[in-house]
Amino acid sequence: MIGRGLSNGKEMRLLIAGNWKMNGLAASLEEVRALLRGLEGRPAGVEVVVCPPATLVAKVAAEVQGKIGVGGQDCHPKPSGAYTGDVSAEMLRDAGASWTIVGHSERRQYHGETDDLVRSKAEAAWRAGLGVIICIGEIEAERLAGKEEAVVDRQLANSVPDGAATAKTAIAYEPVWAIGTGRTPTNDDIAKMHRHIRKVLVARFGKAGQGIEILYGGSVNPKNAKEILAQPEVGGALVGGASLKAADFLTIVAAAPA
Ligand code: PGA
Repeated sequence: MIGRGLSNGKEMRLLIAGNWKMNGLAASLEEVRALLRGLEGRPAGVEVVVCPPATLVAKVAAEVQGKIGVGGQDCHPKPSGAYTGDVSAEMLRDAGASWTIVGHSERRQYHGETDDLVRSKAEAAWRAGLGVIICIGEIEAERLAGKEEAVVDRQLANSVPDGAATAKTAIAYEPVWAIGTGRTPTNDDIAKMHRHIRKVLVARFGKAGQGIEILYGGSVNPKNAKEILAQPEVGGALVGGASLKAADFLTIVAAAPA
């Protein structure tokens, strides 16, 4: 996992990111403080990132002081302008973020985000100096029809910009039917899909395709994290519900292979 010897110059630490979704008020900073206390003295083999709602990015960044990463959950393709309610990558960066998620299935589903839009958001993140976590993954009907690889291929081809070869990028494979449901693919299915994604990335980006982390997301919890993170080509996790409580998130971070 760590230091697979396949680095394209980027670090291949495991990346464990917590996606708070639309949860969190100023009082949640107590969880951030508990997280920092729990991470003291941890081995440097894991990069930990918290992605709070946009309203808390600056507060969380001030709290963590660079000890862990802070990310947005989405960004607009443009740096500024008449886009009421939107937040740009430059704004996230200005608030102290170093990452942002784009293309989460909840954005694709509830906001009609297309692969093309997700691709432009990823490019915006890089323009602002952020790393980007690009989410992909099939819905249940697609898996039942045996189309999961075809769906992922289409999303990879159209949501991941060419710049992924050189800019800070992680792909989060999140089967939509596993998000928030307590259901996960079997370990073999996770390993199979991650191998497939690696093959597609290498076919497109050559050696640089080896350096892109492939995260698993969807119902990762303190109980299943160890076996999921141990699967080949699983370079980390994108954690939703279980990232809201510091104790659970810390257990997941601790489950990463040393
Ligand atoms: P979950 O969410 O861990 O609550 O399933 C993961 C995600 O949506 O990123």
